[in-house]
Amino acid sequence: MLSFDDDAGAVKGLGLQPTAGFFPATGRASAPVSANPDAAHTEFRRIRVEDKRVINGRTDVNQLVPFKYKWAWEKYLAACANHWMPQEINMSRDIALWRDRDGLTEDERRVVKRNLGFFVTADSLAANNIVLGTYRHISAPECRQYLLRQAFEEAIHTHAYQYIVESLGLDEGEVFNAYNEIPSIRGKDEFLIPFIDTLTDPGFRTGTPEADQRLLKSLIVFACLMEGLFFYVGFAQILSLGRQNKMTGAAEQYQYILRDESMHCNFGIDLINQIKLENPHLWTQQFREEIAELFRKAVDLEYRYAEDTMPRGVLGLNAPMFKEYLRFVANRRSQQIGIEQQYPGATNPFPWMSEMIDLKKERNFFETRVIEYQTGGALSWD
Ligand SMILES: [Fe+2]
Ligand SMILES: [Fe+2]
Repeated sequence: MLSFDDDAGAVKGLGLQPTAGFFPATGRASAPVSANPDAAHTEFRRIRVEDKRVINGRTDVNQLVPFKYKWAWEKYLAACANHWMPQEINMSRDIALWRDRDGLTEDERRVVKRNLGFFVTADSLAANNIVLGTYRHISAPECRQYLLRQAFEEAIHTHAYQYIVESLGLDEGEVFNAYNEIPSIRGKDEFLIPFIDTLTDPGFRTGTPEADQRLLKSLIVFACLMEGLFFYVGFAQILSLGRQNKMTGAAEQYQYILRDESMHCNFGIDLINQIKLENPHLWTQQFREEIAELFRKAVDLEYRYAEDTMPRGVLGLNAPMFKEYLRFVANRRSQQIGIEQQYPGATNPFPWMSEMIDLKKERNFFETRVIEYQTGGALSWD
């Protein structure tokens, strides 16, 4: 039972120590994992903006203000303004179409099942990566605030995919195990898992150039290659179905997810660029070459997935069109974090996707210092 009789007792009840040691600026009790234990003996001082850091910071992570990283706070506000829930979307037309034996071709059904097979576990992977990994290594509370919101959005996405699976009456065992059983899906997850494991390893600590580079690499893989590339064949396929007036409920869910993911990707890119700015020694030539190699590998894996999901042309799409598209998206991500484009001259074969994803309009802090958002919960794609 809570007692407010004794202030010190109440604070102890929360597991906090009411001593100077509680404040990371002067102590370690709530400092990020890599804070220096010697700091416990320094004098108490109120937080100064100039002392805040995205990684290896020593300021109190419990004090949101004074703000330093306003772009993170603004993205948090925008993400909240975009709140949506899967049950709000009517799935009855999708259910009728799926049950109608002539409603969809076998190739179209394969696209839907493969899509869900990848995404039903991908977003749980994303959520676990944030909650068990990224979050504890980030020492700026405004960035943590956004990550908390992002983690909830990943839960909503998993919910949305599960809701589609349940609505259509798909074989749950088949869909949820696709990441174990379908090589093109497994290939993508096997590529990602070592980078997620780096961050979720309880023994992993930042604070050395090697460890900080490992963190930065994982953040790049997660934002630019998972959320920024591995989702895009799937999104384009389901949105193509929607554009042909098929599976419109699922397509609407994907549009909301795409809007969220676009912001996750942009937040991740801002985070990466801020870390680069604060730690320029991490951005070595060798490091950039390693990142470029990962970009090329990810494009190959996503292309393999495109071939597997579309063994023949379907919905006016085919795998070779995606080769060019993935190269185009990879170039865009490279440009956003400042590495050399790996596929000079690649063009976008799906201009309608750019409008939906906002690839052209999407901005991040370091490119323009202007960030465009939806300001309400409703979708607007014009
Ligand atoms: Fe997601
Ligand atoms: Fe995401």
